[in-house]
Amino acid sequence: MSSAIISVPRCSCWTNPSALIIATSSAGVFNATDGVSKATSVLEALIANGGRLIDTASTYGSAESVLGEVIDAGKLREKVFIATKSESPDLAEFKRSLARLKIAKVDLMQLHNVSDPQQSLARFKEWKAQGLCRYIGITSTYHRDFSAVEAVLKREKPDFVQIDYSLDNRLAEQRILPLAAEVKAGVLTALPFGRARLFRSVHGKQIPDWARGFAGSWAQFFLKYLLSDPRVTAVIPGTSDAAHMIDNLGAMRGPLPDVDQRKQRVAFAEGL
Ligand SMILES: NC(=O)c1ccc[n+]([C@@H]2O[C@H](COP(=O)([O-])OP(=O)(O)OC[C@H]3O[C@@H](n4cnc5c(N)ncnc54)[C@H](OP(=O)(O)O)[C@@H]3O)[C@@H](O)[C@H]2O)c1
Repeated sequence: MSSAIISVPRCSCWTNPSALIIATSSAGVFNATDGVSKATSVLEALIANGGRLIDTASTYGSAESVLGEVIDAGKLREKVFIATKSESPDLAEFKRSLARLKIAKVDLMQLHNVSDPQQSLARFKEWKAQGLCRYIGITSTYHRDFSAVEAVLKREKPDFVQIDYSLDNRLAEQRILPLAAEVKAGVLTALPFGRARLFRSVHGKQIPDWARGFAGSWAQFFLKYLLSDPRVTAVIPGTSDAAHMIDNLGAMRGPLPDVDQRKQRVAFAEGL
């Protein structure tokens, strides 16, 4: 396969298949003193190489403000899909996020770190109806909270769920992804490198010969495992480095592993 865009909309909500991999703005990324210049080069690399999605949060330090400045200065709003998060259904906090991002509407508003099975998305649904966001979602990267995520996903049926998933952390394959497919929620995979843990596990090692036709780098090797899961909508690696962004976006191109090749990659990771 030589398609430039791997992502296919598998949920009913996803309307723009040109979004695929993906930049994110985690706290440490765009929160430094050189945040604006760094974020500008990373976002330019994202857009120039076919990415679209930016994931941030009201709690990621000054990330929303830095992004707002870069997007406004570069007139990039129409070129990116902006996802942010809030810890609670607080309209004042949401409006502060919009002000920091310098936009009237986000593409995706997520309830951050769901931890209680009774958490409601009623306010988020109101905001969607009022046009403050196009889609709503929930997130968690805490396995102790997966029961709560499952309960909220099943009852509230958000447009998206964002969950941790990487080659060496596959609990989501059993717990969250089947349910996401059932309720037709798009899936964003957070922590696709396990916060760089995967890079440390292959430090000093070469990509195996059998993977060279698939991946030109370890980053692409790790990301293609996730992109080949048909339940995944988009993968959101974090980077503060434009060269890493270009490397990561390379995973959108070339062949993806099939079912047996996915098992081969799992066996490889388990042997590290
Ligand atoms: N509860 C939640 O909703 C939640 C929780 C955690 C994370 N997230 C989301 O998940 C995103 C990703 O998480 P993350 O950034 O913490 O972890 P990650 O994507 O698993 O790993 C990021 C690390 O990998 C490095 N890296 C990235 N691309 C690389 C490349 N091509 N080659 C070598 N190193 C590379 C980065 O360093 P460089 O900066 O040097 O590239 C950074 O140290 C966050 O930005 C956030 O949007 C969501």
